[in-house]
Amino acid sequence: RRRRSVNITVIGSGYVGTTTALVLAKLGHQVIGYDVDASKVERLNRGELPFREPGLEELLHELLQDGKIVFTADGRTAVTSSQLLMISVGTPSAADGNADLKYLTSAIDTIAEFIDGPKIVITKSTVPIGTNRWIKERFAEKVDLTKTPVDVVSNPEFLREGSALHDSFQPSRTIVGGDNPLAVETVKRLYSGLPTTYYTCDFETAEMIKYASNGFLAAKISFINEIARLAEEVGADIGGVARGMGMDPRISSHHLSAGIGYGGSCFPKDVAELLHLANRKNVKLSMLAEAKRVNDTQIDWFVERMQAVAPLKGQRVLVLGVAFKEDTDDQRESPGIRLMERLLKLGVREVRAFDPTVRAVDEIRWTKPLGKGAAKRVKVATDVERAADGVHAVVLTTPWKSFETLPWKQWATAAATPVVFDGRNFLDDVALRGLGWQYYGVARGR
Ligand code: NAD
Ligand code: UGA
Repeated sequence: RRRRSVNITVIGSGYVGTTTALVLAKLGHQVIGYDVDASKVERLNRGELPFREPGLEELLHELLQDGKIVFTADGRTAVTSSQLLMISVGTPSAADGNADLKYLTSAIDTIAEFIDGPKIVITKSTVPIGTNRWIKERFAEKVDLTKTPVDVVSNPEFLREGSALHDSFQPSRTIVGGDNPLAVETVKRLYSGLPTTYYTCDFETAEMIKYASNGFLAAKISFINEIARLAEEVGADIGGVARGMGMDPRISSHHLSAGIGYGGSCFPKDVAELLHLANRKNVKLSMLAEAKRVNDTQIDWFVERMQAVAPLKGQRVLVLGVAFKEDTDDQRESPGIRLMERLLKLGVREVRAFDPTVRAVDEIRWTKPLGKGAAKRVKVATDVERAADGVHAVVLTTPWKSFETLPWKQWATAAATPVVFDGRNFLDDVALRGLGWQYYGVARGR
């Protein structure tokens, strides 16, 4: 069956918007990527990815060359070029845990301003339960729906950063929620060619599937992290425990790696938003609240164990990993950053950060501005050979593949004391001990 190519505008060219736009273009559609950030648009049109994601820049080059995708910062062009408009703007948490829908609202208002015909608006951003119905109401207020009908379809995204392309070309499932079967069918057809399974449902179910999935995965991580705290006391190897548990397909070994907890642009915010909604509805999500509490204290737990081995006040510490996970430059809610802030608070003399995506101190996105005293104690190591010179401890916070092959042998003698704390159970403990390192992981057993 021949695939029918359509015009589609993807609103928001961040991690999700750019990836999805490129995947849709690769599937044969004519894609317009729209972003309010003109400099981002310019870079994308030049073939330059404004963030780091494996494989994406090559795909961008290919599709620009083929004329299958173009980026614009012009709202009118964005709205009038396509009948299908996919929203993938950010939905960050406000201070109270509520989702901040200002970007979403402004995207809807842009559509309402320039609307020139029937549209299907597809919500790809993660939005609180009830939002798609609210989007419909907003269009009903702003647009004459008898002249220019607007359908709304919920189509949440499940990709992971660092493996965004893989996850998009091999989706675990495609959730399509809506109230007009024709619009739902149109959205399903967009993805024909992908090896996926569809699940169609109403708005609220689709929205809840997204939040509950992230909540569940976050809870899985907190579960294993809490078991790790006990495993540490009794001498069990948490990696082996997770492997053995994961052999039961009902459990599965995914998202069961113990460490210093989850971070990133989504788990912390989506857990906070779900808890906020439950609170407003007077429902107690106690398991999710506990998962959050465990995650909020996991770094403290780890730093306490570091302190028990080697008091860190006044010492120099090399921190491996600033990005929230490997293969991305995304620092949103990064555990590595929270750990550095904890060390600074403890009074270390120097935090020396090392990450393949960070070249200077001002590239580190702290959770709040550092005081002058603290700021002076942060350095970024760019010379791998000299990175461990004079440090009293090395702590790994992000499992970048390249950290396996750092000059560990040379570092063992360059460090003031060769102590390594592996917050992700990532390094080869036996090999490191063989090189003279004192190695401490997260409950790695006897
Ligand atoms: P992001 O911050 O990387 O990108 C958002 C983009 O939207 C920015 O480039 C911004 O300039 C642009 N923007 C803001 N307002 C706009 C407007 N009115 N019109 C056009 N563009 C506008 O965000 P992201 O990480 O791609 O996340 C987007 C959404 O997808 C969020 O709701 C997030 O929860 C969800 N999500 C993210 C991931 C992920 O791995 N990052 C995975 C699944 C779902
Ligand atoms: C996560 C989900 O996995 C995606 O399905 C979802 O689409 C996305 O959130 C989202 O909604 O934005 P992402 O945050 O990109 O994706 O990355 P993950 O691989 O899930 O890692 C999240 C955090 O958990 C990282 O800090 C990672 O180090 C940590 N983690 C992950 C663990 O501590 N243990 C694990 O076993 C897995």
